[in-house]
Amino acid sequence: MNPAYDFAAPFQDPKGSAIRELFKYLSQPGMISFAGGYPSPALFDTAGLNAAMVAVQSASAADLLQYGSTEGRPQLRAALSALLARRGIAAAPEQMLVTSGSQQGFDMLLRTLIEPGDTAIMTRPVYSAAAQGLRLAGARVVGVATDGAGIDFDELESHLAAGKPHPKFFYCVPTFANPSGDTMPLAQRQRLLELAVRHRLLIVEDDPYGQLRFSGEPLPTLFTLAQDMPGASDWVVHLSSLSKIVAPGLRIGMMLAPPEVLKRCVMAKQISDLCTSPWMQMVAEHYLNAGALERHLHVIVDAYRKRCDTLVAALREELAEAFDFSVPQGGMFIWGEWKHGVDAARVLEHAIKANVMYVPGMSFYTDRANPSALRLSFAMPTVDEIGEGVRRLRRAYESYMGAG
Ligand SMILES: Cc1ncc(COP(=O)(O)O)c(C=O)c1O
Repeated sequence: MNPAYDFAAPFQDPKGSAIRELFKYLSQPGMISFAGGYPSPALFDTAGLNAAMVAVQSASAADLLQYGSTEGRPQLRAALSALLARRGIAAAPEQMLVTSGSQQGFDMLLRTLIEPGDTAIMTRPVYSAAAQGLRLAGARVVGVATDGAGIDFDELESHLAAGKPHPKFFYCVPTFANPSGDTMPLAQRQRLLELAVRHRLLIVEDDPYGQLRFSGEPLPTLFTLAQDMPGASDWVVHLSSLSKIVAPGLRIGMMLAPPEVLKRCVMAKQISDLCTSPWMQMVAEHYLNAGALERHLHVIVDAYRKRCDTLVAALREELAEAFDFSVPQGGMFIWGEWKHGVDAARVLEHAIKANVMYVPGMSFYTDRANPSALRLSFAMPTVDEIGEGVRRLRRAYESYMGAG
């Protein structure tokens, strides 16, 4: 019998992530995976990062090996602020908290804002680890539909109607979302901010993919737009990261937040990890200050564009009758659904036998799930693997239909 530990309620019988359950199939020989949300290791700028690592070796041990400030090294915050400025995001280093990945930024918001029983709103579908974080914090999560046209404002306003518990925040990934690949149009961004001001609704803008644009014109972030709308900047928290544009192993992210929110998140981070590794902060700082990101980012973006185009063409060629999907303008994901109500988890069983994988959409819903939906990541497989992977998907679909 298990010892009777007195776990907190959300951890008494926690459900593991369905995505992690899929990991065991990744080691199947010859597997082509559209499943993970990892960036391609073949595209890491190892030369640039090695140079940054060599450069930091000459730093004093007190800088490199000692604890650092919880807010993050001032030099890194200045470098990150310059990086943001190049995207039109004007954020002073004092408005920024360096986090151990943007995931930690979200966790800081959970710690400072959420109590068991609180409500939070998320897009439907939504990044699964954020939804899981809210559930484990004991929050009630309500969804708002989103697609390529943006969010369903009627549904959002109905959650904000008088008499309902006031939601602690609305979480969204407005640019090249995980999992949908969608980008919120400009008019919707403006409208969302107006609504935030009117309803005193905190908006959490998670933006790890914003720099991975391979077509269309860049759009201003909610954080940027809020600076030109009276009162709006009080209601936007912006989370961002070096994970998808440099390397997730650095574990460097950042939070931009109104002062009262930032102050409390700094306290929460103190409890969580005292500070993000000063060593890795220095590596990131050197990498950015050497101009390596500007030199290398286009390599990543060009490769993802090519992979995305290949996947789109292959899906049109092989699965036009079976699969509906939208084409993203950037990021790492294509979201779609099997036609005719076909169940994505059932087809996946056949796909795994055919040595190809994706993530069924069910992992990305907190309510009103679409069982036919699924997410394909084009970041990891090569162009050749993508073509072969989609042919395997077609065989899996046919095998499922034949078995049905
Ligand atoms: C939407 C979204 N937010 C946050 C993260 C976590 O990123 P980080 O490595 O910066 O913690 C991911 C990673 O996949 C993501 O897709």
